[in-house]
Amino acid sequence: MESVTESSLMELVQPPLFWLGAVTAAWLSLCSIYRLLNGVKIWILGNGKLVSPTRLGKWAVVTGATDGIGKAYAEELARRGFSIVLISRSQEKLDDVSKTIESKYGVETKTIAADFSSKDIYSGIESGLSGLEIGVLVNNVGISYSYPEFFLNVPDLEPFIDTMINVNITSVCQMTRIVLPMMADRSKGVILNISSASGMYPVPLLTIYSATKAFVDFFSRGLNAEYKKKGIIVQSVLPFFVATKLSKIRRATFDKPTPERYVAAALNTVGLQSQTNGYLPHAIMGWVTTALLPAKLLNQHVMSMGLGQRARFLKKQKQG
Ligand SMILES: NC(=O)c1ccc[n+]([C@@H]2O[C@H](COP(=O)([O-])OP(=O)(O)OC[C@H]3O[C@@H](n4cnc5c(N)ncnc54)[C@H](OP(=O)(O)O)[C@@H]3O)[C@@H](O)[C@H]2O)c1
Repeated sequence: MESVTESSLMELVQPPLFWLGAVTAAWLSLCSIYRLLNGVKIWILGNGKLVSPTRLGKWAVVTGATDGIGKAYAEELARRGFSIVLISRSQEKLDDVSKTIESKYGVETKTIAADFSSKDIYSGIESGLSGLEIGVLVNNVGISYSYPEFFLNVPDLEPFIDTMINVNITSVCQMTRIVLPMMADRSKGVILNISSASGMYPVPLLTIYSATKAFVDFFSRGLNAEYKKKGIIVQSVLPFFVATKLSKIRRATFDKPTPERYVAAALNTVGLQSQTNGYLPHAIMGWVTTALLPAKLLNQHVMSMGLGQRARFLKKQKQG
């Protein structure tokens, strides 16, 4: 009697279970195919033609343009035919980069020397940019810690907080305030805000840096939602390590690319991703760290990496 009830129960539940399994498998396959095709579109086909002066406007403005990622953006945009406004601290370095770009790519350049750690530079920048048809703004300037450190032990903490916020946050908002109206008038333009993978989750011992980069990411995503229907693309770019002065990585590898390699890949994602890690190996790292690893494990790993780097830095300092 009991086995009859069991088998009739099995008969009853088998068809719905079969269909539940079939629908789930079909849904997961569809999602995987969609992700794969989307990945091919972003990382293999790309959208290289969008960022061009004929589509967006004659000038591109790059902050922090004399080194690293900013210099690579300036050069790649010049290669695509944009005239370039270079903004950084040192006039000497600006002149060097400007000469190289003009002779290599045959485009006009303009330089503005400004220190983004101060807040009284923006009227000068505004008059330097007035009258230009600006198609692209790259808010790239940024600084980090000289070594990972506990918040209260950061050397010269008070001025450090101001400098970090002025360079990493205020610059992005103020440059956008100056350039966006000119783009909005023409209903076209691209703003690329260089955040960091450190803004995707808290990075202890680089806490202020990580928090400023999370601000840049949120600012960019909010602004993109506000202005995309008005023809303006705002992209949040979140690189992992790139071999530059800031990261102190001298030799590039596949996952820690040269700035040139990184920027060439990142520019192909404009218009396809409003938030991007910019480079396929970094996108995979972003997916693994946010979608696969449990947050607690990730936090522990990032903290122990920071502690290791801090200990090595302090030991070297003691020795030298
Ligand atoms: N490299 C990485 O691994 C990495 C990873 C994630 C995110 N990022 C982000 O990418 C951006 C660029 O970083 P990077 O690695 O290319 O840095 P970098 O090699 O140190 O270059 C920074 C540029 O900014 C300029 N700069 C620095 N402080 C300035 C200030 N106070 N006022 C004006 N200009 C200033 C520097 O020129 P002068 O010194 O001549 O003024 C230089 O041109 C930053 O926002 C950074 O947070 C970098």
